[in-house]
Amino acid sequence: MRTEIDKLRALIRYHERKYYIENLPEISDADFDALMKELKELEAAAGAPIPPDSPTQRVGGGAELGTRLQHRNPMLSLNNCYDANELREFDERVRRLLEETPVEYVTELKIDGLGVSLIYENGVFTQGLTRGDGEYGEDVTDNLRTIRSVPLRIPVETEIAVPPVLEVRGEVFLPIDCLNEINVQREAEGELPFANPRNAAAGSLRLLDASITASRPLDIFVYTLNYAEGTEFTTHTESLKNMKAWGLKCNPHTTSHKSIEEVQNSYERWVEERHELPYETDGIVVKVNNFSQQHELGTTSKYPRWAVAYKFNAQQAITTVEKIDVQVGRTGALTPVAILKPVTLAGATIANATLHNEQEIQTKDIRIGDRIVLERAGDVIPKVVEVLTADRTGDEVVFKFPERCPACDTPVQRTEKEVAVRCVNVGCVAQLKRRIAHYASRDALQIEGLGPATINQLVDKELVRDVADLYALEVEKLSTLDRMGVPSARNLVHQIEKSKEVPAEKLLFGLGIFHVGENVAALLIERFLSLDALGRAKQEEIESVRGIGPQIAESVFNFFGHNQPLLDKLHAAGLHCFTVEAKPNLPEASIAVDSFFSGKTFVVTGSLEGMTRGEASNEIKNRGGRVTSSVTRKTDYLIAGEGAGSKYTKAVELEIPILTAADFFEKLQQRTE
Ligand code: IVH
Repeated sequence: MRTEIDKLRALIRYHERKYYIENLPEISDADFDALMKELKELEAAAGAPIPPDSPTQRVGGGAELGTRLQHRNPMLSLNNCYDANELREFDERVRRLLEETPVEYVTELKIDGLGVSLIYENGVFTQGLTRGDGEYGEDVTDNLRTIRSVPLRIPVETEIAVPPVLEVRGEVFLPIDCLNEINVQREAEGELPFANPRNAAAGSLRLLDASITASRPLDIFVYTLNYAEGTEFTTHTESLKNMKAWGLKCNPHTTSHKSIEEVQNSYERWVEERHELPYETDGIVVKVNNFSQQHELGTTSKYPRWAVAYKFNAQQAITTVEKIDVQVGRTGALTPVAILKPVTLAGATIANATLHNEQEIQTKDIRIGDRIVLERAGDVIPKVVEVLTADRTGDEVVFKFPERCPACDTPVQRTEKEVAVRCVNVGCVAQLKRRIAHYASRDALQIEGLGPATINQLVDKELVRDVADLYALEVEKLSTLDRMGVPSARNLVHQIEKSKEVPAEKLLFGLGIFHVGENVAALLIERFLSLDALGRAKQEEIESVRGIGPQIAESVFNFFGHNQPLLDKLHAAGLHCFTVEAKPNLPEASIAVDSFFSGKTFVVTGSLEGMTRGEASNEIKNRGGRVTSSVTRKTDYLIAGEGAGSKYTKAVELEIPILTAADFFEKLQQRTE
């Protein structure tokens, strides 16, 4: 028998759905509040434990952040296209791979927010994760519970029974009005405004205090049914229909199309109409509707081949350059930054824009006081596209690039080889701050909560002189820093502690060695297995690793020659590196040891439609092939994409067979040969 409390909970859930999900409220806010008040009173009077899916239980205590959990299957990203031609190429590729069977596309809006996964067990919302790095996300369950359009329970009385385990994925976002409001407030409080809608959503969802999250009117659109035990849907549209029936909030602007021309028309309509939407969109997402076709097309390591994000063009704004600052990067490179009269662009307030280097300022002739056109595309950092020279008054000042480092006053160095102007003082504090930020970044040691404001204080107060000093920080000291309470300090110490167990290639990357990006770090660890072994290696041995050239080898060799004390200190601090077994990125079926690629050596050049060269290399390696950077007699095939240059000529000269991008994709499709 349903008690009065149960009935009231069901009634409130019904009205929550009408108001927050369907936008069709049936009762006034005051009546709704009265129902909530009544429920709270009944629950208090009953004295019984309150189930977590009761509508009164949205805001719990402090959120437990920092727990990283693995997604059931990776949360992939989307490949982008920018014009009608690229869209047509996507369609051609889809149809080619599907051997010309008819394809139906669905278009949706691409919401600019933060990707999340929501898990329901027996109809109750039990876990929510951020996308994170795609493989591991952060547990933000408590904060997601505060979003009124996230149902805490799925109504049972639906047409298709609610699956015992259900995982849906969607985008959490802040409506434009709220985003602007929060940014105004942040600036008034001396904080930096959120640079884009995604940061705003992420920042709000990752607050330590769920009650602050609750005060931010976050919203969600669910766009993927990732897992639904016991159900069999045949199309994406069918799954959307069911998700809606289960009370999940899906975006209403979803359309199916029989041809790519229709998709193009839909895009053109949204280019005009998107400004009327109350939330930010940065494109449309085009998806193959049929699930078995989606399956047949499969995915690369980064994105599905059955979908593409068709991005809107960057939005522009005009503003004035008030001053030009120079920042010092982690490797000492001096980067000029234009400080702008704040301007709203694509929903965010922009107050500065990188000018990249001295040459850029000269080429574009950017002067202090100039009116400029600023552009921002999606989450891309804003850039100066042109100077409105016709608006010049004559008062503009030509910027003179500094001859000394603005942070440590050491004379800067210019070389013929590169455009960057550098500070070569290894003790420069500005560089140290950047090195620490890099060390803590997501792709390196991933120390959450160690942001620029904290790093600046740690370095300025001389609490940290190198990255190893991070491991000696204590809650007591940390909590004396500005804007750092005891809970945040504890959290930071915990995060630093957690970073001690680290895959060797992440540490190698995190050390910030000149020329050692993520790929190079992975190659080196694949060969040497540990930093110790790499540190003992001779320069020639490093250079003999496939994919490592003389410049990188020299840089790595010199780093280990000069930095042994730092490595010893990290070791003494308890840092423990491990080597992760090389993990294939592809679904098992497509990894063929005995493939066309196995045992052969490839060079990839030019741009391949829809795939970066790094991704192409991974696909080759996963199939047992080798990838090198230069064409020699030992090369078996050159894969030449659009714009291939000298490598192409060399391959022709050496009579090395050449595969076009289309040939390459075809070979990737073949399971075995
Ligand atoms: S589908 C594997 N649909 O865009 C399919 N994604 O740039 C990937 N996004 O990580 C997701 N709106 O967070 C899909 N209607 C939509 C979307 C959408 C926004 C986000 C999502 C994804 C990112 C890729």
